[in-house]
Amino acid sequence: MPTADTVNTIAVLGAGQMGGGIAQIAATSGIDAICYDVQQASLDKAKALHEKLMARAVEKGRMERGDADSALQRIVYTTNWDDMGEADWVVEAATERADLKHEIFVKLAQTFENPSVVLATNTSSISITQIGASAESGRSGAGERVIGMHFFNPVPVMKLVEVIKGLTTTEDVTQRTIDLAVRMGKDPHAANDRAGFVSNRVLMPMINEAFYAWMEGVSEPEDIDAIMTKGMAHPMGPFRLADFIGLDTCVHIMDVLAEGLNNDRYRACPLLKNLVTAGRLGNKTGRGVFDYAK
Ligand code: 3HC
Repeated sequence: MPTADTVNTIAVLGAGQMGGGIAQIAATSGIDAICYDVQQASLDKAKALHEKLMARAVEKGRMERGDADSALQRIVYTTNWDDMGEADWVVEAATERADLKHEIFVKLAQTFENPSVVLATNTSSISITQIGASAESGRSGAGERVIGMHFFNPVPVMKLVEVIKGLTTTEDVTQRTIDLAVRMGKDPHAANDRAGFVSNRVLMPMINEAFYAWMEGVSEPEDIDAIMTKGMAHPMGPFRLADFIGLDTCVHIMDVLAEGLNNDRYRACPLLKNLVTAGRLGNKTGRGVFDYAK
């Protein structure tokens, strides 16, 4: 089996915030990246952000201009699925919908016949075992090479990769994923395949509780955020962070926790749900808990 050192090309499915970040750190670690998305506009946006962030890294003296240029040249942007065919590792970072992941992993298993190609997913909440079963239905044995490779936003800055082993994932695939995360400059930590893994099982109820505290009039968002940043040394308070993650994503993850852990204490706070219903999704819509148009 090839090792993490021999990975030459990573295909990243989905050029959103997470996928774009993953492609970027692959490229800065010396690995070719194929950035695939169904929408050209998403690819254009990812490319512009890559150029901006690399220019900033050079300006700040964190990177030589030549290295930044080489990294940018290592990224290919495409809307053509077949262009991913040469990759020897896949990280899926598409929209967080179980039906979409099913479709993608059936197709990935059919496209990547070589059993050494790992099919990783950046899902933040969907069961890795379930995604593995989707791959298995596309090609017998493919479930063994499906694994969770959960990055954190902003990907170039956050050190953690949560590595989640599904029921069918092999030890070899797990070890190679850990090794690859290290090669990409990250600190991997393992978690088992239970709803929310570790990160979101601990983080999301805290965010949800902050909405309850606000709803019950315990305090206002600015004060709750200040209490958590100043008292707990969190870089962002729970509301700023919720806006950054996306309030719709927070509700979605709470739903997964409530369902997967079969416990109503994980139900999303009504106030959080109301903001989503009103279209206030956070930074991405310009308004969530806070107003970013100002
Ligand atoms: N991409 C790349 N780099 C970025 C960035 C981005 N989107 N945003 C900020 N940075 C870099 C900046 O360039 C800057 O680096 P420099 O000073 O060397 O140029 C550095 O990060 C610090 O940025 P700022 O000075 O602008 O701002 P802050 O000091 O406030 O840091 C932050 C910003 C890194 C986002 C910090 O607030 C933070 O760590 N916040 C918490 C983020 C967090 O918890 N993320 C996890 C979310 S949960 C998740 O992703 C899982 C999912 O399943 C829900």
